[in-house]
Amino acid sequence: MPIDNPDQDISRGMKWLMLVSSLVVLALLVGVIKSNVFTEWRAHQKEYRKLLLAKAEDEASRESAKSFDVRMQQAVVPELKATDRCISCHTGIDDPRMADEKQPYRTHSGTLLEDHPVGKFGCTVCHRGQGLAVTNEEAKAVHAYWDYPMLPDNLTQASCGLCHDPKSLKGRGGNVLARGAELFETRGCRSCHKLGGRGGALGIALDNEGRKVIHQLVLTDLKGEHTVWNWLVEHFRDPQAIVPTSLMRNPTLTEPEIEALTTYMLSLTTQTFPNEYIASDKVEQKYAEIYPQKPDAEKLYAQFCYSCHESGTYGRWDKVSKRFIPAIRGSGLAVSPAGFLEKQVRLGREGTQMPGWHQQAGGLRDAEITALVAYLRAGNQPVTEMWAPKSAGDISRGQGLYAQNCQGCHGAAGKGGIAPVLASPSFQQAASDAFIVTTVRNGRPDTAMPAFQRPGKTGLSDKDLTDLLAYVRSMK
Ligand code: HEC
Ligand code: HEC
Ligand code: HEC
Ligand code: HEC
Ligand code: HEC
Ligand code: HEC
Repeated sequence: MPIDNPDQDISRGMKWLMLVSSLVVLALLVGVIKSNVFTEWRAHQKEYRKLLLAKAEDEASRESAKSFDVRMQQAVVPELKATDRCISCHTGIDDPRMADEKQPYRTHSGTLLEDHPVGKFGCTVCHRGQGLAVTNEEAKAVHAYWDYPMLPDNLTQASCGLCHDPKSLKGRGGNVLARGAELFETRGCRSCHKLGGRGGALGIALDNEGRKVIHQLVLTDLKGEHTVWNWLVEHFRDPQAIVPTSLMRNPTLTEPEIEALTTYMLSLTTQTFPNEYIASDKVEQKYAEIYPQKPDAEKLYAQFCYSCHESGTYGRWDKVSKRFIPAIRGSGLAVSPAGFLEKQVRLGREGTQMPGWHQQAGGLRDAEITALVAYLRAGNQPVTEMWAPKSAGDISRGQGLYAQNCQGCHGAAGKGGIAPVLASPSFQQAASDAFIVTTVRNGRPDTAMPAFQRPGKTGLSDKDLTDLLAYVRSMK
């Protein structure tokens, strides 16, 4: 007959409890020892001491190598809000004797640490990563929680842009960054993106793009590692592969160009630093922006207009937005009245991709808009034959003609379809009657806008044109 013995139960429970708790204590102890005695950085510093000893050539340096103190080392830089312990492992970083050693003992490449001493700059201002961390993995923080993981070596020049004018670093350790800044100004990015208040409105302003953290980006279709730089690279390769609804059309870019633009994007920040950290070239750059040079229309056109209008001499079908983008330097606009182009450029076209470019909208100065318009008009032949109706037309008859001949392209009530929005206020205010009617009669060469009255007067009659004009004018 089994005897139920409660005492035995209790003592068994106690044994288990004691076993478990001593295991816990042991684990804690191992943890404490591991993180204080057998740490990565201690091991590295002991190795470094051996290297020092091996390299010592005389008694004095042998003595100093022996007395090398294994202890936590850090650069504390309150001005940059940084406490960087990287030098606890990278002990030889500013020691020229370590130039041929392997990482983490090797001397820093180039003269960067001479120009930016460790005590004043630390490491993370250039490399990012987690300064306080004491393990290699946590310091680099690439697959983690940490907002600004360490940049890959090939993109680290991004950080130079925080304190320097990228252009000025060409040939001074910042070639990739300088190239990225140049591409940004010559390959049409400002057609859609503002930077420093200048640029189009279709894409977001990029002033703080370098501070983006990974979870602010659309990751669903991103292949490869989830880092901001991998996102940027893949997005430059093919914007629609990453953001399927994207209206971004970027020029064809080579891989080195993508690397340069990515570096430049990562350099953009609105973060500010104390004056003693801003290099003199960046101060000069600011002055140059405040006191701008004489406008260079060709350069402005490449910066702000080319991405959408291309050469501007022909109208083109845009497969991204599925509509025609007008020719703006062709002979067709020669019939437009004085001030017309100026107004379109200043105000843009409401409800279309054509943004306004005046100072408060796209950031262009009046002198720049004047120069651009002169550039668009250059080479236009003077117009001799223009025709405008002498009497008022019949709006409802005009509406019928419009539905038959125009609506398929310009949309109902001129609200835009695949061709320009005729109802747009900036168009209606600046276009003269003669301009509208002449455009309809002659069409626009090298664009999809057909001629509706051919020489010998086939096509629409003068009466038709008069009624059409009345209807087009009623759209406003
Ligand atoms: C616990 C030791 C440790 C700490 C702390 C540490 N590193 Fe390292 N670091 C290493 C080791 C080991 C390597 C070489 C192996 C590797 O690439 O991971 C290395 C490599 C590197 C490399 C070269 C990567 C490459 O592939 O070229 C850079 C750059 C670097 N560290 C920067 C930093 C910065 C910046 C910090 C501080 C935020 C830092 N490290 C903190 C141990 C450390
Ligand atoms: C002024 C910016 C800047 C500072 C400050 C800086 N680095 Fe670097 N570092 C770079 C750049 C840029 C590279 C990429 C290599 C190149 O192009 O020379 C680099 C490369 C490295 C490498 C890779 C091996 C090599 O030398 O090419 C290591 C390791 C490294 N840095 C560690 C550090 C540590 C540790 C600190 C802090 C003591 C530090 N760096 C401070 C900009 C900087
Ligand atoms: C946190 C700000 C900061 C960062 C980041 C930074 N620099 Fe500097 N750099 C300075 C300051 C300040 C000076 C001092 C000289 C001056 O005022 O022009 C300087 C000096 C220099 C010089 C010497 C200039 C001369 O005329 O003698 C070079 C070259 C240079 N930096 C290149 C770089 C490169 C390349 C990077 C990126 C890898 C970089 N810097 C990152 C602030 C910075
Ligand atoms: C025709 C207009 C257009 C042009 C030209 C254009 N972009 Fe974009 N861009 C967009 C639009 C719209 C988005 C938002 C949708 C998306 O993420 O693709 C965008 C997104 C971006 C983003 C991601 C921003 C973020 O944080 O979500 C970057 C970076 C970028 N563009 C950089 C550039 C650069 C650099 C160029 C020049 C090579 C350029 N773009 C040319 C329209 C344009
Ligand atoms: C096959 C499509 C198509 C048809 C049909 C068409 N248009 Fe156009 N129209 C366009 C395009 C495309 C443009 C812009 C041309 C350019 O400059 O690239 C344009 C330009 C215009 C302009 C000048 C607008 C501006 O922004 O300067 C007017 C006015 C105009 N069309 C009126 C009409 C009228 C009225 C009709 C009907 C009688 C008509 N169009 C029929 C495609 C068409
Ligand atoms: C994001 C694309 C985009 C950019 C960038 C852009 N445009 Fe346009 N632009 C358009 C579209 C689309 C239209 C037609 C608007 C409509 O449907 O009414 C247009 C129309 C115009 C017109 C009116 C043409 C006509 O037929 O009446 C002018 C002039 C013009 N743009 C000039 C410029 C200039 C100059 C720049 C550079 C400063 C520029 N655009 C930049 C897309 C753009």
